[in-house]
Amino acid sequence: MYINPRVKELEVSIIRQIAQKAAKMDDVINLTIGEPDIPTPRVIVEKSIEYMKNNQLKYAPTGGLEELRIEIAKFYDEKYGIKYDKDEVLITCGSTEALSTTLKGILAKDDEVIIINPAFSLYDALVHMYDAKAVHIDVSKNDFILTSSMIEEVINEKTKAIILNYPSNPSGTILPKENIVEIANFLANKDIYIISDEIYSEVIFGKEEYYSIAKCDNVKDKVIVINGFSKSHSMTGWRIGYLLAPLNIRKELIKVNQYTITSPSTLSEYGAIVALQEVSDVSSMAEEYGRRANLVTNRLRELGFEVADAQGAFYIFANYKKFSDKDSLTFVLDILEKAKVALVPGSAFGVDGYIRVACTLSLDNLKTAMDRLEKYLNS
Ligand SMILES: Cc1ncc(COP(=O)(O)O)c(C=O)c1O
Repeated sequence: MYINPRVKELEVSIIRQIAQKAAKMDDVINLTIGEPDIPTPRVIVEKSIEYMKNNQLKYAPTGGLEELRIEIAKFYDEKYGIKYDKDEVLITCGSTEALSTTLKGILAKDDEVIIINPAFSLYDALVHMYDAKAVHIDVSKNDFILTSSMIEEVINEKTKAIILNYPSNPSGTILPKENIVEIANFLANKDIYIISDEIYSEVIFGKEEYYSIAKCDNVKDKVIVINGFSKSHSMTGWRIGYLLAPLNIRKELIKVNQYTITSPSTLSEYGAIVALQEVSDVSSMAEEYGRRANLVTNRLRELGFEVADAQGAFYIFANYKKFSDKDSLTFVLDILEKAKVALVPGSAFGVDGYIRVACTLSLDNLKTAMDRLEKYLNS
């Protein structure tokens, strides 16, 4: 049977492949998928159960429940000082659908999208699926810092968008305010979209302050913010996210959203309202990720890895060139087999020579994982 070649060419995510392999083995410490062990706050679960008991679940209105859109606009204003109207908020099925809806809505055949490597693999997959071309900038050799001159080298008349992701998955880095402002100044007169994936914006534990490019007035009319509740409130399985975009863009993207999913789950939209109204301070969660990130960073540095300076998210990205010239997939498969620790290869993010450790398990588990890795390297 005929299958769209763009789809046929896609591979199942390497992260999922390794996680599945690890799940079939005994006694593996699985630090692959970006899914925290911290449960969804109790009040969200309990109020959602009550809501479901007392209400017939119906389709949510197109674009999302108004109350949720109001809460999200309020959250962006109070937390980050960025003003959005409730009608500039589009509720999506996780930030994955927000990204998919955005790229589906703006891309045509042979358009180019700038992706900053190392990058979350979904970006490449979506760009490929929508018949466009990914153009990469590798920031791993510049301490993971993007500059406008790097963008200048690759931007051209086919460029339709650039995707930014801070704090970054996989490096945990944040772009300092000066760099964001410099990039905004450069892009201000360019006719391209700036897609800002801010899914880890609430998971900040370093000294660097988080600064969204949507705060820069000279580009706000071309910024599409992507965010959601999976990481900030440990609500991965609820599949609830959103995008923020100027009215003229949101007006078009809502059609993609509607014809793809009709609406996200009404129950999850309700749960997200509870999250913003009753669990607005998630700093204790971020602090826990900070402690984990510190432990892993310190241990890996003691072992001799070169480790990116994570300021947020919950990943540690480390260069292992000192130990091995194996490619990163071979290296992590060897670690999995011999040390029973499941990690993700840098190649899954477009940069070889690195491993990613997801700090999604307890400090004790992470400590054991580092002990096992140390034993493996010394064997
Ligand atoms: C950078 C980044 N963006 C988006 C997502 C998707 O998150 P969700 O669809 O659960 O909101 C993830 C998940 O790991 C991610 O790491």
